[in-house]
Amino acid sequence: MKAYLLDAAVARYVFDHTTPPDALLKALEKETAEVAGESAAMQISSDQGRFLTMITQLMAPRVVVEVGTFTGYSSVCIARGLSGGRLHCFDVSEEWTSIARRYWREAGVADRVTLTIGPAAETLPAFDQPIDLAFVDADKGNYPVYYELLMERLRPGGLLVADNTLRRGWVADPAHDEQTTVEIRRFNDLVMEDPRVSVLMLPVADGMTLIRKN
Ligand SMILES: C[S@@+](CC[C@H](N)C(=O)[O-])C[C@H]1O[C@@H](n2cnc3c(N)ncnc32)[C@H](O)[C@@H]1O
Repeated sequence: MKAYLLDAAVARYVFDHTTPPDALLKALEKETAEVAGESAAMQISSDQGRFLTMITQLMAPRVVVEVGTFTGYSSVCIARGLSGGRLHCFDVSEEWTSIARRYWREAGVADRVTLTIGPAAETLPAFDQPIDLAFVDADKGNYPVYYELLMERLRPGGLLVADNTLRRGWVADPAHDEQTTVEIRRFNDLVMEDPRVSVLMLPVADGMTLIRKN
């Protein structure tokens, strides 16, 4: 349960009143914790997963792009929400995404997911389809690069969702100058200055920003 911005009782209440993950997602969470150790914290939380499935169901996108797939939690949630569209995943790690591939098969969504391995700043430029929905959850220093590449391809009315945009709330504390926080703060400011978009920052988990191309 990731709820850095809520007190424990409210967080418990929120999770108790959100449709819970099924057995497959629970198994993926357990396996990731066992094999990834501290890196398991990179996985999105179950309420974020529910959000991604729901927004995908609501938008009925044809083309979805995910940057940062890891062991597959968010991609399973997005793929499950699809009704005819495709999810294109980008990640640098063959090792982590081999687990994702297995869960895509177990979830019965492998036929609607493609994976490109390599640094996304180098692989995304070759992607030439109009994008309806994008989820960005990879190396934070490159968020501005991913943002520009995806924004060029996002159709008007399309949505880009960026994860970890509150950094446990540290972005709001000017005294906090840890590198990733500075990078995310810069990204948040860049998005706010972009006249092409409207923006909604949600205090869910570690902060999720919804960026709609006008
Ligand atoms: C926070 S995790 C993604 C978590 C995932 N969304 C989930 O739900 O479990 C970040 C991922 O970004 C990937 N990554 C890091 N640097 C990258 C890069 N330069 N290009 C593409 N992927 C990268 C890592 O391999 C890792 O799998």
